[in-house]
Amino acid sequence: MTTASAVEIQSRTLAGYADASRLRQVQDRDWVLDRVTGEPRTLIDLGSGIGQLLQEALERLPSLRLAVGLERSEHRIAEAAERLRSHGDRVALHPADLTAPEPLPYRAEVITQTSVLHWLYPDEHRVFAWAAEHLLPDGQFLLTTYHPARDAHGFGGEDDLVRDALVALGADRAEVPAVFERGGVLPIATRTRPVDGLTEALRPHLAVRGHLERDAVVTVEGPEQYEHFHAATFGDYYSRLVEPAQRPAFFRAVGESAWRRQQESGHVSHMPVRLWELTHR
Ligand SMILES: C[S@@+](CC[C@H](N)C(=O)[O-])C[C@H]1O[C@@H](n2cnc3c(N)ncnc32)[C@H](O)[C@@H]1O
Repeated sequence: MTTASAVEIQSRTLAGYADASRLRQVQDRDWVLDRVTGEPRTLIDLGSGIGQLLQEALERLPSLRLAVGLERSEHRIAEAAERLRSHGDRVALHPADLTAPEPLPYRAEVITQTSVLHWLYPDEHRVFAWAAEHLLPDGQFLLTTYHPARDAHGFGGEDDLVRDALVALGADRAEVPAVFERGGVLPIATRTRPVDGLTEALRPHLAVRGHLERDAVVTVEGPEQYEHFHAATFGDYYSRLVEPAQRPAFFRAVGESAWRRQQESGHVSHMPVRLWELTHR
């Protein structure tokens, strides 16, 4: 029997996100909270992770009576509960699967969702319907979505780094899309619908009041930093494509592939991120 490496354990528990998210996701937090208007009493964060956005909202918005988080990972809910403990009953955290969210007894002036939607593909419409039901009449739903360029196989963003890693471990580059298919792994760049597709999916549920865009540039100081970013962000989503004995080498190869890109072009990746401001139809 092989013993799991530290990075494999990290990937199973999605640990180390507070550190890893500094590279990309945490920038959405202030960007989104800067768009909040009025004096909201209730804010709901969908896919609330380790509670970073809720914490910032509670600190920035004195009008907030209740900050609600919905999240699938029990490890993340536990970390969020610890982080938000000092806010007492201003916080409610709910285990939830956002591909089939259950109704909850809240109505919010603000609903947020950052860096989550691609994980809900192809069932995003369910979370849009849920948000429409739980939003007060003049409420805002602030949503961020990532849009990596994709190739003919639907690969882009993290998929490209994973393809490099699989090739470094001996796979034939042309065969990698078939490896994904056999392993039941949908490329992330396929999971992230383009803006037109999202506009279409939103239309029956919510109106688009406006949007902003930024370029999310990821840079690293060494291969290990990216190895841990990958494990904390993507968990074991991709690593299950290789045999258990090869997984430590897989995570290392992802880190090395990222580091090569960093040295060649001054960054690992960059992609447009859209902040949608949505309201009732
Ligand atoms: C990249 S993290 C983003 C976390 C946080 N919103 C942020 O911006 O830092 C994606 C989060 O979505 C959660 N998630 C993924 N699929 C989910 C689902 N079906 N239901 C609920 N949460 C989900 C993950 O557990 C993870 O915490």
